[in-house]
Amino acid sequence: MRGDLVDRIMAIMEASFDPAYGEAWNRRQVEDALLLGNCHAYVVNPSGLPAKDDEPAAGFSLSRSGFEEEELLLFAVTPEYRGRGIGRSILDALYRAAESRGAKRLLLEMRRGNPAERLYRAFGFSTIGERKAYYRTPHGTRIDAITFAYQFEQDS
Ligand SMILES: CC(C)(COP(=O)(O)OP(=O)(O)OC[C@H]1O[C@@H](n2cnc3c(N)ncnc32)[C@H](O)[C@@H]1OP(=O)(O)O)[C@@H](O)C(=O)NCCC(=O)NCCS
Repeated sequence: MRGDLVDRIMAIMEASFDPAYGEAWNRRQVEDALLLGNCHAYVVNPSGLPAKDDEPAAGFSLSRSGFEEEELLLFAVTPEYRGRGIGRSILDALYRAAESRGAKRLLLEMRRGNPAERLYRAFGFSTIGERKAYYRTPHGTRIDAITFAYQFEQDS
């Protein structure tokens, strides 16, 4: 297990996810995912490029590949680096990596109302379903999950 990688992911996640929604994973969940051969972590520096060990980390994605599809499990950019295209560059890199792993579409699930929807739609994702009351906030409120997909065939 690459503890330094987990440390970097946890630091970005803790700075990025609003605790009001309970979306962040704990360390154990991240470690367990990374033990699986089909989960892929990608950490970028403030320029949106793959972060070297001695560079600060500004954002990351964690995805899981399945048969002809790749699911974005976690995705965040720390607040100080937002709004300059880093999120978009992570999605671009995910697309390329997923394609090289044989994916034909990307999937993700988002709580209803997350402003990230604008970025997903601009990228080319569209809604394919919803799970009513799927997320439960620490205060017990239920929020729907919206499932988005991006079909690679759109490119050709
Ligand atoms: C979603 C997230 C990764 C986007 O990162 P980013 O580096 O700011 O993304 P970009 O700069 O490439 O794109 C920003 C675009 O997304 C939209 N956007 C994304 N998150 C937003 C937010 N929290 N507030 C306002 N707009 C947001 C903006 O409208 C912007 O579009 P524009 O350029 O047309 O104005 C970042 O906001 C984040 O970490 N959010 C918290 C964690 C989270 O919710 N992750 C997604 C879980 S499904």
